Amino acid sequence: MARKTVIAGNWKMNKTAAEGKALVEALKGLVADVCPARAEIIVCPPFTTLGAVAEAIAGSNIKLGAQNVHWEKSGAFTGEISADMLKEAGVEYVIIGHSERRQYFGETDATVNQRLKAALNAGLKPIVCIGETLEERESGNTEKVLAAQLSGGLAGLDAEVVAGLILAYEPVWAIGTGKTATPEMAEETHRFIRSFVAGEFGQAAADAITIQYGGSMKPENAAALCAQADIDGGLIGGAALKADSFAALVKNAIAAGQA
Ligand code: PGA
Repeated sequence: MARKTVIAGNWKMNKTAAEGKALVEALKGLVADVCPARAEIIVCPPFTTLGAVAEAIAGSNIKLGAQNVHWEKSGAFTGEISADMLKEAGVEYVIIGHSERRQYFGETDATVNQRLKAALNAGLKPIVCIGETLEERESGNTEKVLAAQLSGGLAGLDAEVVAGLILAYEPVWAIGTGKTATPEMAEETHRFIRSFVAGEFGQAAADAITIQYGGSMKPENAAALCAQADIDGGLIGGAALKADSFAALVKNAIAAGQA
């Protein structure tokens, strides 16, 4: 079954509104020939940069994502943001449960699940992040950790909803470190994730769900990773911060994914 290639740039805490606008103005021209029926291109700027980027990408094939969403509609949650606020800003996608949120801000599988349900209720398209630490991989616990993250994170969801989700498998030891999982190692884990989804939600959901790889994906390694059968694109940090590297990565990933 052919799945679309989905590439999302996670800008993390980088780019002011002016810098973000300049980046997407350059990016627009470089990816204008990418057909939206074959691939999705998403950028996920910081909250205060969303408005400027939304304006700059209007009418283009670049979609807007955010990096977090709270589960309540409003209230006393200092520093958080609601799904409706994101929708109003023109956001279509939202990253949930990134390992940096888990590591530095106390995100758990239970809060991932709450955020995910709020995003879905508001009509946002979630990108749910999972991944093991180096210690967990070296002690042979990768599959156990991923299974727990998936069971907890996706708890209570219907198979039809799971079918439309985007998962991002990001081995924590590969994020921002320059260390990438080899394509074979990444594929082995993606295959496990897809089979776990099949076991919990059925084969149709497993066949349809998008599973991105993340962790030091660059223009140079995107093709080899995205050529793997169960890798459907990428969640990109560092290489998404420059228009030329992100555009090159997008093109290499799409070419490999559809070869
Ligand atoms: P990286 O980040 O591409 O800089 O490793 C990926 C991510 O954290 O989403």
